Amino acid sequence: MKRGLFITFEGADGCGKTTQIELLNNYLKNKGLDTILTREPGSRGLGEKLREILLNYDGEVSSNCESFLFLADRAQHIDCVINPALKEGKIILCDRHTDSTVAYQGFGRGLDIEKIKYLNDIATGSTKPDLTIVFDVDIETSMSRVGKEKDRMESAGIEFFNRVRNGYLKIASEEPQRVKVIDSSDTIENIHKKVVELVEKL
Ligand SMILES: Nc1ncnc2c1ncn2[C@@H]1O[C@H](COP(=O)(O)OP(=O)(O)O)[C@@H](O)[C@H]1O
Ligand SMILES: [Mg+2]
Repeated sequence: MKRGLFITFEGADGCGKTTQIELLNNYLKNKGLDTILTREPGSRGLGEKLREILLNYDGEVSSNCESFLFLADRAQHIDCVINPALKEGKIILCDRHTDSTVAYQGFGRGLDIEKIKYLNDIATGSTKPDLTIVFDVDIETSMSRVGKEKDRMESAGIEFFNRVRNGYLKIASEEPQRVKVIDSSDTIENIHKKVVELVEKL
């Protein structure tokens, strides 16, 4: 069966995911490759509604509920966007995916990591990223990049984000084949070069 490529961008808020995914998308499109730029939560349709709740709802949200909402969005995204595009042979660039739930709800909020991985597997079936890039930078730097206007997730505090950062590094150490870490204290241009190197290898 013809299959495209699935690349995910991960890391704490403000590490530079959206900046780098757009640069890579332009780079690949300029080479004439067929790409799709997407994100979690909320790529399109129903996902947009779930994103609105996840990022802006200002009442109480239990950690379990939060996890299931992210997972519901992920299941929809895999079935309705990612798998169809993979079948068409496209290159899918996705801003956040399964590792975000492990890092944020698992390491960050303290939910059971193995259970989250199991639930991730249910949401995604057999579809796994071919490459995941984690953009790693100290929390003071990433928070200063986010600025003063923070959404619900970005407002969780410095200790939370240190757990998230360490969670990503643990994920990368456990799956070195799939997950590559880039030092994101560097300039936007230098990070982009490293991203291109990783993707060219695929
Ligand atoms: N390497 C970098 N050095 C300095 N500023 C950066 C760098 N990468 C991104 N930024 C800036 O930091 C802010 C957050 O970047 P963004 O790509 O939106 O991060 P994320 O999507 O991971 O939250 C943006 O204003 C962006 O221009
Ligand atoms: Mg972003």
